Amino acid sequence: MAQPEFTDAIALLKADHRKVEGLFEQFEKARGDATKQKLCHQICIELKIHTLLEEEIFYPALRGKIEDDTLDEAYVEHDGAKVLINDLEAATPDADFYDAKVKVLSEEIKHHVHEEEMPKEGMFAQARDTDVDLVELRDRMLARKQELMAQAEASGLPAAKPHAVNLVTA
Ligand SMILES: [Fe+2]
Ligand SMILES: [Fe+2]
Repeated sequence: MAQPEFTDAIALLKADHRKVEGLFEQFEKARGDATKQKLCHQICIELKIHTLLEEEIFYPALRGKIEDDTLDEAYVEHDGAKVLINDLEAATPDADFYDAKVKVLSEEIKHHVHEEEMPKEGMFAQARDTDVDLVELRDRMLARKQELMAQAEASGLPAAKPHAVNLVTA
């Protein structure tokens, strides 16, 4: 199961971050609704799978081993992104605010990725200072990723569900 291109769980997650950054850059340069919709769809799938991997496997493995605030804020930041992800998945590029939503999503993700990757006090730096087995985590995340990618291909992924934020249903 282990794929040698990712040395551990953090390398896998960082590769996802770089991939999504590349897709956001492509979107910025894209002209034409069909191209934009395709790129936005790819961005949403990548982010949904990535947030699920972190919320189901990576973050829980770190609970109690790194700062609670770091983890709590990450869940809330994910929830913020999910609002735009679900909204964009239901929209087409001719909709009002479409480009603005993609732009704001990219800015939210940029901030969040910085919180995970920043040297010393970032989440990944804290994780490296624990006894968590990051290679075993990589294998579990890779297996789950294959599953989610197959599901995305076959039937599509369900809307992203908030983890921490209580949605007001009035
Ligand atoms: Fe991440
Ligand atoms: Fe994250």
